[in-house]
Amino acid sequence: MLKAGSALKKDPASQTPGAADSLHVAIIMDGNGRWAAARGLPRIEGHRRGVQTVRRIVEACPDLGIDRLTLFAFSTENWRRPADEVRGLMGLFRHYLRKESAELVRQGARVRFIGDRTALEPDLIQSMEQLERETASGARVALDVALNYGSRAEIAAAARRLAVRVARGEIAPEAIDEAAVEAELFTCGASDPDLVIRTSGEQRLSNFLLWQAAYAEFYFAAEHWPDFDRASLERALRSFRGRDRRFGAIAG
Ligand code: FPP
Repeated sequence: MLKAGSALKKDPASQTPGAADSLHVAIIMDGNGRWAAARGLPRIEGHRRGVQTVRRIVEACPDLGIDRLTLFAFSTENWRRPADEVRGLMGLFRHYLRKESAELVRQGARVRFIGDRTALEPDLIQSMEQLERETASGARVALDVALNYGSRAEIAAAARRLAVRVARGEIAPEAIDEAAVEAELFTCGASDPDLVIRTSGEQRLSNFLLWQAAYAEFYFAAEHWPDFDRASLERALRSFRGRDRRFGAIAG
């Protein structure tokens, strides 16, 4: 029987022990709109406050033993929101990427964006690439920001690329195993999330890391994302650390 956060990490198939102190937390940042509505504020104000929460939570990660954080910032389904909210969110991302670079470097964050960049504005893509370059040597916390991300589309694209390679005779169908699929995902090279947190009381995965979260623990926080703070994260970690992770095996 394995306590969450003990030496046995991902790779349930081979049960390969990993670094005992590596911890990947993924967060669905929900409830910005409800936070704003409850205060009679426009929804975008909730998103603005959400950006402040991102800052706080990234800052807390190294102290709390989290060496990888994945944040769901914008899903492929979020384009269905009213145009002015989408515009507002894209504006916030632009602002965040340009203003936050020095702070992220100070925090030792290494930023990578996951998701389909092709649908984004060219200047936003440039800012994303610039931030990835500027933070490339960050060694305290790996920060994956999911922007225009959808897990089903990610898996379908991976299957398509592998099919093309089979059709070209580059690989045999038998060579398509879990590792081959993983290598084609946006998250290639990252550990799987140990803990997925969703704020605002909702209990859904909403097309987030469907493949990667196969063995993740889940924690649902009541707070809206703007109210989520270091103490909330510590509560989630306490819950996680009290769980037994068996990765398909039986209690020993
Ligand atoms: C969910 O709240 C939140 C989003 C769709 C956007 C999340 C984005 C941020 C917090 C901005 C900052 C992120 C980065 C990485 C700079 P919701 O609008 O779905 O809330 P609701 O369910 O209450 O309507």
